[in-house]
Amino acid sequence: GNGTADAVKGLASPRADGTKQPFVIGVSGGTASGKTTVCDMIIQQLHDHRVVLVNQDSFYHGLTEEQSEHVQDYNFDHPDAFDTDQLLECMGKLKSGQSVNIPIYDFKNHRRCSESFRKVNASDVIILEGILVFHDQRVRDLMDMKIFVDTDADIRLARRIRRDTDERGRDVISVLEQYGRFVKPAFDDFVLPSKKYADVIIPKGGDNHVAIDLIVQHIRTKLGQHDLCKIYPNVFVVHTTFQI
Ligand code: ADP
Ligand code: C5P
Repeated sequence: GNGTADAVKGLASPRADGTKQPFVIGVSGGTASGKTTVCDMIIQQLHDHRVVLVNQDSFYHGLTEEQSEHVQDYNFDHPDAFDTDQLLECMGKLKSGQSVNIPIYDFKNHRRCSESFRKVNASDVIILEGILVFHDQRVRDLMDMKIFVDTDADIRLARRIRRDTDERGRDVISVLEQYGRFVKPAFDDFVLPSKKYADVIIPKGGDNHVAIDLIVQHIRTKLGQHDLCKIYPNVFVVHTTFQI
């Protein structure tokens, strides 16, 4: 086959104007698995690069008045709960170097903030985090690297109870009811089956410093190759398979 093309495949290529395309990382895993914690650690360690974090949660559809009255019956863990077309539009813009306004979602009233947005600028690295970021093939296809944070369900439930009662305005009973009725079934139906798309699976989430170090090292190597591609677009870049 075509050795050079094969070797460079999977590596975001420079745009026609010679500027780099951002390196896109998807981070998925069940609720409260430690996705945000892992992303924060990666961002911290990549301090000398421009990195932005995009949360799938920002693209939740806001509930209508009627849905709000029966919020306990709403499935926030089903793929249809997200506006994936809007997510794709925002990611597309960011990938092409434009800045975007991302909605701000409020977990207490299940709505988007109507007045303000979060402005996200173009960057070297874009991290897209969420329970279902590997579900839709169009979203997966944006990603240069896919990470799944794997944490036992009992640990996740314990963390979720603590977080949702502390930060998301819930009581323990409602968290447990929602977990049994929607969160766990949707994890089994949609989140777990998408684990097979991951390039890297991190056991123990943010506690796994070895995995985070390896991932950051790999991203640095890839960003270096980006720069090489920019300077020497025809150079042969050897890349190795990455496994933990
Ligand atoms: P996710 O983004 O997957 O929902 P977070 O990273 O926000 O998960 O973590 C969920 C909750 O669990 C947060 O309250 C966080 O502080 C806590 N948490 C995350 N990782 C750990 C850990 N390794 N040890 C203890 N608590 C943790
Ligand atoms: O941060 P985390 O990945 O846990 O966020 C996803 C979870 O948020 C889903 O499991 C969903 O049940 C929950 N959620 C909620 N209320 C909303 C929106 C999402 O409990 N209004």
